[in-house]
Amino acid sequence: MRLLVTADLHYNHSKSKALADDLIDTMNAAGGDVLLLVGDTAAADGDALERCLSRFRFSGPKLFVPGNHELWTAGPDSHALHTEILPRRVRELGWQWLEADPFALGDIAIVGSLGWYDYAFAQPSLGIPRRFYERKISPGAAERYTEFAPLFARTDDVPPHAREVIARWNDGKFVKLGMSDERFLDQTLSRLERQLAGVASCAHVVAAIHHLPFRELLPAPHSAQWDFAKAYLGSPRIGQLLCRYPNVRHVYCGHSHLAVEAKIGHVHAINIGSGYRWKTFRTLDV
Ligand SMILES: [Fe+2]
Ligand SMILES: [Fe+2]
Repeated sequence: MRLLVTADLHYNHSKSKALADDLIDTMNAAGGDVLLLVGDTAAADGDALERCLSRFRFSGPKLFVPGNHELWTAGPDSHALHTEILPRRVRELGWQWLEADPFALGDIAIVGSLGWYDYAFAQPSLGIPRRFYERKISPGAAERYTEFAPLFARTDDVPPHAREVIARWNDGKFVKLGMSDERFLDQTLSRLERQLAGVASCAHVVAAIHHLPFRELLPAPHSAQWDFAKAYLGSPRIGQLLCRYPNVRHVYCGHSHLAVEAKIGHVHAINIGSGYRWKTFRTLDV
């Protein structure tokens, strides 16, 4: 079985869309048996998701995993998007909503999850207290807005170098979960665990997780702004769950837009590395 995998097509951005169109055309010509998208295909609002998925010409199973950008909306409820609206829209286009419907063919299975984050990848050297991560804004940016004044009710734990970090994680503006990030991660992991238990008898499991499951996939230290973003790149809890299942052999993710591979125990972890300015796909022959 030949699997074609990509992520982070970001079809609702004009420059990214042009690159995605080229990549999709290349993938359409590449052949393969199963097609897999690992999140951030398009934001939920508008019809970019429909336009993107409809451009693929692929006769085999087409598997879809959402990313955080699928939950971006000007509306009030990302949770309804994730649990009801997006699965329906994706299925209506002939794609499989992998989080609910794992793929199995003989001894091979493919499971999928959005994953999420719990700030466990936050960089302690930045000295940023957790309450800022929860609001998805750094101290240097928060002090510019009166709405974030309560974050400074105490300042003894906000060192001067933390105030020099000016960054926001835009999930804070556009994703409305109605619960904490930790609670949401609990939910996505519970769903993933049920999938993994359901395919425990398969010899080879491929897991497609939008957020990073392993610290080894994090980008190298860069600027303070990028280091702030690491809090939102994923969670080691995802990887710990995957490593409990000896039949999980390959893990594909996206989200950081950085191509990285790592071997963690019996798991070969691959970040696709598509981003806004460059796209690529991977093939796996199982
Ligand atoms: Fe992305
Ligand atoms: Fe993402």
